[in-house]
Amino acid sequence: MDKYIIKGKRRLSGEVEISGAKNAAVAIIPAVILSDEPCVLENVPNISDVSISLKILYELGAQIEYINDTTIKIDATQIKDTVVPYELAKLMRASYYFLGTLFGKYKKARVSMPGGCYLGDRPIDQHIKAFVSLGATAALDHGMVDITADEISGTSIFFDMVTVGATINTILAACRGTGLTVIENAAREPQIVDVANFLNSMGAEIMGAGTDVIKIRGVNALHGTTYSIIPDQIEAGTFMVAAAATGGDVIIKNVIPKHLEPITNRLAKIGVNIEEFDDSIRVTCEGPFVKTNIKTAPHPGFPTDMQPLIATLLCFAEGASIITEDIFDDRFRYVDELRRMGAEISVDGKVAVIDGVGELLGAPVSAPDLRAGAALIVAGLAAKGVTEIENIQFVERGYEDIVFKLRSLGAEIEKVEVITDVTLNSQKIVNG
Ligand code: EPZ
Repeated sequence: MDKYIIKGKRRLSGEVEISGAKNAAVAIIPAVILSDEPCVLENVPNISDVSISLKILYELGAQIEYINDTTIKIDATQIKDTVVPYELAKLMRASYYFLGTLFGKYKKARVSMPGGCYLGDRPIDQHIKAFVSLGATAALDHGMVDITADEISGTSIFFDMVTVGATINTILAACRGTGLTVIENAAREPQIVDVANFLNSMGAEIMGAGTDVIKIRGVNALHGTTYSIIPDQIEAGTFMVAAAATGGDVIIKNVIPKHLEPITNRLAKIGVNIEEFDDSIRVTCEGPFVKTNIKTAPHPGFPTDMQPLIATLLCFAEGASIITEDIFDDRFRYVDELRRMGAEISVDGKVAVIDGVGELLGAPVSAPDLRAGAALIVAGLAAKGVTEIENIQFVERGYEDIVFKLRSLGAEIEKVEVITDVTLNSQKIVNG
């Protein structure tokens, strides 16, 4: 049970480099299975969700070679198995992409229901609806999703709600099928476009990614490729909020400003100064922050993954702000932790009202999920005194080298390994 220890009220300043996008990488890595030749992936983030995706690929029979820290060569042409067991699939939500890619290549897949952050009910009925529309027989067998088909035939699919995972899974399943598949009410997040660009670089025929209508014309072969994954817009947004919350001056490098627009627009309204360059942005903030009302929405709306982060920043605003979480049923579990630091937030269902308090006080807190953990880090950086954060394994699923990156900006943060052996009852710093 490692934890972070943060001494707050250090202004962040300097430059930080954003890593490859987690939610693109965890889709593109399984998608390599669709290729008839080896592929090389660049700008792959060094995070535990990527390690789990690679381990699943390896267990299925793929060969994996690290060319350097962020470049990986994957040969999945000798895959012998199409089963992903519970022990691996339970470790992350994105294990469901092995359903779409194994089914798309071998017309069969047997993958355990996914794990991942608890954000309320997270069914995969729309994924199953798409696979069945494409010709699959689907069954839930002791927690395992079983899909098989004689033929994958193009079809039209209209999703009951905008869903990132089901949109990507349908593209994975359909791209080697026969005929034309049309997805309507498709998700438009940057990672959807990245997955489509990756598959098209292998010879797929996917049109309209990034809009709410995506067309996939099935092809019967896909060749190898070398592809660089987009930068992580949520990691970038996290550092934007951290810079603002500490009244800092930070240049955030390796970003695509267009992907950040939903975040940039909101932060500007709160009073954060953001200068955009070709592949970087500069964030400064004199404060005070202005209260605002935010509703999370599918891209290009305000991203739900930034909801805990912006809520933390609004604790320092003057007046009351209202946040409506319209994507997930239960994404306010971090509020109790912020309250321990002095935040005044009331939650009623999907709505949180944040009364600006001007200052937070350091305290021992526990991360309930990935982005909530990042929000608690931001709270600790801005708070007066010391904050200790437990359950940091959630954070390390999605943020590469976050302690190193924050320390390089002047933060006083360290990761401490808590030796739980009662006889030892000691703590040692694992990396400064
Ligand atoms: C992806 O989750 C991301 N995870 C999430 O990021 C992100 O918050 C979410 O998209 C929304 O942008 C990955 O990409 C691995 P959805 P996903 O399908 O695919 C409901 C992070 O912190 N729904 O777009 O699970 C669902 O319950 C994580 O990086 C169904 O009802 O999200 C939710 O209410 C957290 N049936 C809504 O749709 C389905 O079959 C959106 O879910 C699928 C989804």
